[in-house]
Amino acid sequence: MVCFRLSWVPGSVLFSLCLILGAVPSYALEVNLTDSENATCLYAKWQMNFTVTYETTNKEYKNVTIFEHGSPTYAGSVCKDDHNRSVIEVQFVPGFSWTVNFTKDSSNYLIDGILISYNTTENSTFPNAKDKGVQTVYYPVGYTVPLNNIFRCSSLLPVDEKNVVHNYWDVHVQAFVENGTVSTKEFVCAEDKASTTVAPIVPTTATPAPTTPTPKKPEVGHYVVTNGNGTCLLATMGLQLNITQDKVVSIININPNTTDFSGSCQPQSALLRLNSSSIQYLDFVFALKNDNRFYLKEVNASMNLANGSVFSTANNNLSYWDAPIGSSYMCNKEQTVQVSETFHINTFSLRVQPFNVAGGKYSTAQECSLDDDTILIPIIVGAGLSGLIIVIVIAYLIGRRKSYAGYQTL
Ligand SMILES: *[C@@H]1O[C@H](CO)[C@@H](O)[C@H](O)[C@H]1NC(C)=O
Ligand SMILES: *[C@@H]1O[C@H](CO)[C@@H](O)[C@H](O)[C@H]1NC(C)=O
Ligand SMILES: *[C@@H]1O[C@H](CO)[C@@H](O)[C@H](O)[C@H]1NC(C)=O
Ligand SMILES: *[C@@H]1O[C@H](CO)[C@@H](O)[C@H](O)[C@H]1NC(C)=O
Ligand SMILES: *[C@@H]1O[C@H](CO)[C@@H](O)[C@H](O)[C@H]1NC(C)=O
Ligand SMILES: *[C@@H]1O[C@H](CO)[C@@H](O)[C@H](O)[C@H]1NC(C)=O
Ligand SMILES: *[C@@H]1O[C@H](CO)[C@@H](O)[C@H](O)[C@H]1NC(C)=O
Ligand SMILES: *[C@@H]1O[C@H](CO)[C@@H](O)[C@H](O)[C@H]1NC(C)=O
Ligand SMILES: *[C@@H]1O[C@H](CO)[C@@H](O)[C@H](O)[C@H]1NC(C)=O
Ligand SMILES: *[C@@H]1O[C@H](CO)[C@@H](O)[C@H](O)[C@H]1NC(C)=O
Ligand SMILES: *[C@@H]1O[C@H](CO)[C@@H](O)[C@H](O)[C@H]1NC(C)=O
Ligand SMILES: *[C@@H]1O[C@H](CO)[C@@H](O)[C@H](O)[C@H]1NC(C)=O
Repeated sequence: MVCFRLSWVPGSVLFSLCLILGAVPSYALEVNLTDSENATCLYAKWQMNFTVTYETTNKEYKNVTIFEHGSPTYAGSVCKDDHNRSVIEVQFVPGFSWTVNFTKDSSNYLIDGILISYNTTENSTFPNAKDKGVQTVYYPVGYTVPLNNIFRCSSLLPVDEKNVVHNYWDVHVQAFVENGTVSTKEFVCAEDKASTTVAPIVPTTATPAPTTPTPKKPEVGHYVVTNGNGTCLLATMGLQLNITQDKVVSIININPNTTDFSGSCQPQSALLRLNSSSIQYLDFVFALKNDNRFYLKEVNASMNLANGSVFSTANNNLSYWDAPIGSSYMCNKEQTVQVSETFHINTFSLRVQPFNVAGGKYSTAQECSLDDDTILIPIIVGAGLSGLIIVIVIAYLIGRRKSYAGYQTL
């Protein structure tokens, strides 16, 4: 085992790095970043390899397998900076670096992206390169992992883009390690779950599970946004998310008991944001139309699916839930907001008022056309009334005929 001790300049947090050079094939890397207290804050062990294709001066394409050259160094790795970011940076040969960065919020950390940078001017690694200079390839990883869980992925994750083929396998990584102890709770990648029948280790932070084809109705939640003047936005609704990813449909009911909400109210727009352990955000943005109506203009969402992947979508060109300002919009029947081809929201028992809430209460409701059975009532009443009128008219006519008959006999 080889250990590196490096210092990170800003804040001068010391950390050490250890690299275990395994047996052939010697692609296994292990990194143990420690903070100033010598406590582990990032641990990773993984295998990877790369092939870079570049054009030579005599118009040929050449492949370089980076790992066959040089041994790794880790300058530039960051245990944790002031902005909750961590970085692992690895250099193998002059002019080639591989970087992965992490960020965290209160409940999850994100394996954000992999940046590969290589300098084709380095003629020891890239002899006779036609285009000389620094090339970069960025691959957005986008894995969200609950804090205090170690991400594990044994499957081969191949990435093939822009002249660089990179492969990863046997990955174990935990960023933002708590109390210096690498967790025993595993967050297993979707690829491993698909390729094994072994029950996956369920992360403690609940992720929405894809449910049966006939899902239950979601529970109705009551959401309130306040500002300096008291309640400024009201929403009551049951929400069911319909996500299609890789042809697989996931139906996720929002559980109001475990969902937090926040928001803001501006004169021209209003925001309701829901979030939970698995939903980073689900934003409903309302706007005004012709200064006298409001509508749902925008939905932005980002969430972790049960398979470990992150689903994000946005649409700022919607037109739903349209009603006059000073009233509320209501729809008791199931209604669907189509945010994108892959993301629909089914709403149940919906009532919203994003503007001009007075006294914390809903104003009169404008109902959606789907609730039209309320129109049936007047029809039934109307039909009943006209039936009654017909009966009266007939009775009157019969009565008159009888009296005519009476006169005739007289
Ligand atoms: C990481 O390094 C720290 C300090 O050197 C050590 O206590 C810890 O056991 C190491 N962890 C792993 C998983 O190697
Ligand atoms: C961290 O470990 C090094 C040796 O590995 C030691 O010199 C140093 O004093 C330790 N620092 C703390 C804060 O324990
Ligand atoms: C990289 O690793 C993968 C998976 O083990 C393997 O299929 C591939 O041939 C390797 N590539 C190189 C250039 O060694
Ligand atoms: C270089 O790698 C690419 C992609 O892996 C492959 O298609 C191509 O045949 C290789 N070229 C040479 C000269 O080996
Ligand atoms: C870093 O994350 C913690 C929660 O884990 C949070 O309290 C803190 O505000 C974050 N810091 C920054 C700069 O985002
Ligand atoms: C990770 O690196 C990419 C590319 O340099 C950058 O766009 C992104 O903001 C970084 N993420 C974090 C969390 O620092
Ligand atoms: C690229 O490599 C050349 C040759 O070693 C060097 O002169 C140049 O500074 C490098 N460029 C960068 C941006 O590191
Ligand atoms: C690499 O470039 C240097 C000058 O930049 C030159 O002296 C050297 O011969 C080159 N080496 C090869 C292998 O092309
Ligand atoms: C870390 O330590 C704090 C305080 O002792 C404790 O509350 C917390 O649960 C610990 N976290 C883990 C993951 O052990
Ligand atoms: C409160 O209401 C007053 C008058 O309607 C308005 O001028 C002010 O901007 C409102 N304050 C907030 C925080 O919305
Ligand atoms: C979910 O969306 C898919 C694809 O648009 C659709 O076929 C399916 O009926 C929807 N399911 C529900 C419960 O909304
Ligand atoms: C939410 O909480 C209420 C009251 O505590 C309970 O009746 C209901 O079953 C809970 N719903 C879910 C989905 O957990």
